[in-house]
Amino acid sequence: METILNSNVDEAIKWLNSNELVAIPTETVYGLAGNALKEEAVLKIFKAKSRPYFNPLILHVDRWESVMHYTRFIPEAANLLAKEFCPGPITFLLPKSNLVPDLVTAGHDKVAIRIPAHPLTLQLLRKLSYPLAAPSANRFGYVSPTNAGHVLDGLRGLIPYILDGGPCLVGLESTIVDFEEEDVIVRRNGGISMERIEAIIGKKVMVKTEDAEHPVAPGMLKSHYATNTPLYAGDLEKLFPQFQEKEIALIEFGTKISGDFKCRFNLSQAGDTDEAARNLFSTMRKADACGADVILCTTLPETGLGIAINDRLKRASFQEG
Ligand code: TXA
Ligand code: MG
Repeated sequence: METILNSNVDEAIKWLNSNELVAIPTETVYGLAGNALKEEAVLKIFKAKSRPYFNPLILHVDRWESVMHYTRFIPEAANLLAKEFCPGPITFLLPKSNLVPDLVTAGHDKVAIRIPAHPLTLQLLRKLSYPLAAPSANRFGYVSPTNAGHVLDGLRGLIPYILDGGPCLVGLESTIVDFEEEDVIVRRNGGISMERIEAIIGKKVMVKTEDAEHPVAPGMLKSHYATNTPLYAGDLEKLFPQFQEKEIALIEFGTKISGDFKCRFNLSQAGDTDEAARNLFSTMRKADACGADVILCTTLPETGLGIAINDRLKRASFQEG
């Protein structure tokens, strides 16, 4: 199959209407999209990504009325968050309506649903009569794509069309929020920081991130977001001396350390966590491609998007066996 890369929304619609997959730009990462209401299209998503069927997909819609259409109940906290952050990098876990196929939610009663903030994709969604199911458009386990070229690197020949919307402006997947009675629960740290959520709901969130990304026991899945070159994340001053004999790809944040490296990158010279988020995945890919033996990456301060970035680094880190 030939993979076409272009910015033509009508072309994308043509493919989607015939149950084919299209990679779509969002503010977070590129998604691998198909008609969420057609089993044939949804099955293709799992297949193209080699994704296990027990890992459910996010539904993408164009407006809050569509969220209401595909869910049965919306807690007040979700309405408050939506008013502030939609369209934007936040995904809501809400009781699904009968319109949502079980294949999309992997049999769960709740559906993950979000309104992506990207002009091309919003235009696309408005012209469709169905929502799009879309996981990140990477091969299962590899680093998420933050530009159209990344998608092409991973999925060339496997999908017919990539809608090119330029580089992603947030660069990390959406924050997934769940609701239980009066509590707001963060299931995945992402593009909206916990501080910003807490400022809107006026109280602390709970964080339960294990089940969203690890539906089975940890270790059953290979590490997520992982580079092919082993990556170690932590305090660079401590890591660096352990790898003196190796060719190192270095990823820093703000301050620079001196030394001899195969290649080096800075996530944000100014020490800005938003900028670091935007640069993280493409930097990991460049570090992976530079021919080093190991990638050493600093962890970030646990403020703003630093928490979500550290979470990605932890998952990308080399694990023995
Ligand atoms: O920013 C994003 O959210 C991107 C863009 C493309 O929208 N999408 C994304 O999708 O990151 P994916 O498939 O890579 O991650 C979706 C996460 C998975 O950890 C999945 O387990 C969880 O959302 N999830 C989806 N549906 C769920 C459900 N019904 N219940 C619990 N977790 C769910
Ligand atoms: Mg993903």
